[in-house]
Amino acid sequence: MSKRLENKKILVTAAGQGIGKATAVAFHNEGAKVFATDINEKTLKTLKQEYPNIDVYKLDSTNKAAVEEYCSQLITIDVLFNAVGFVHHGTILECDEKDWDFSSNVNVKSMYFMCKAILPLMIKQKSGCIINVASCASSLKGFPNRFVYGTTKGAVIGLTKAIAADFVKQNIRCNSIAPGTVFSPSWQDRVNQSPDPVQAKKDFIARQPMGRLGTAEEIAAVAVYLASDDATFTTGTTISVDGGISI
Ligand SMILES: NC(=O)c1ccc[n+]([C@@H]2O[C@H](COP(=O)([O-])OP(=O)(O)OC[C@H]3O[C@@H](n4cnc5c(N)ncnc54)[C@H](O)[C@@H]3O)[C@@H](O)[C@H]2O)c1
Repeated sequence: MSKRLENKKILVTAAGQGIGKATAVAFHNEGAKVFATDINEKTLKTLKQEYPNIDVYKLDSTNKAAVEEYCSQLITIDVLFNAVGFVHHGTILECDEKDWDFSSNVNVKSMYFMCKAILPLMIKQKSGCIINVASCASSLKGFPNRFVYGTTKGAVIGLTKAIAADFVKQNIRCNSIAPGTVFSPSWQDRVNQSPDPVQAKKDFIARQPMGRLGTAEEIAAVAVYLASDDATFTTGTTISVDGGISI
């Protein structure tokens, strides 16, 4: 049986851990040539040891010059998977201007830089697919203490629709995925850093209607679909993969 992403070249951001890593591995397992980037050299090194055929490169997606330089040497990219994101805890009252700027930079500007640097290549190729990782905490649903996170993830959904509308005639699709709470290293850190980690874990699980967290592999499976030729009529949409939390 042929693999679903055979002959595709895919660029992944935040590929060092969590959803980004699981998706890079799923793309690789489906036959794609994967270019995995992350700001964290250590986790990229581990990924390379585990999957020698995945190319790894240290890239800060919020660094415009570095993004432009890296993307300018790529010959073809069929799919861009943007997974960089950061969760700031708190309401608007706990969100200082520096928190606002940091989250806006990491969650939205990084995707703006990556999409802007890759789109000329996709236009030249006359095809392309962009997948952005949003969140159920966004324009889809408000969550307590997720003020700037939800604001910026709502912007990711808007950015996705805008790109989809502007480049639909050039055979470029742009979609986003809105995960619910997914087990990942940063989720574990959020639990560990809370005043009562045991209760925090219970609370996260209790708010999920399925009574469990999602796995990064469950998000990756949807990313594989969107990246594949099974999804060639799908653009501008946001797929919720959230165990029912946004129903
Ligand atoms: N885990 C969840 O519950 C959940 C839910 C909804 C959405 N998301 C979104 O999924 C994405 C991945 O989250 P996760 O929890 O799976 O992974 P994570 O938060 O554990 O890991 C994030 C990765 O991003 C990298 N990174 C951070 N800043 C970067 C930068 N400037 N440039 C390049 N890489 C950078 C980190 O080094 C790390 O490898 C994020 O966009 C997040 O907002 C996660």
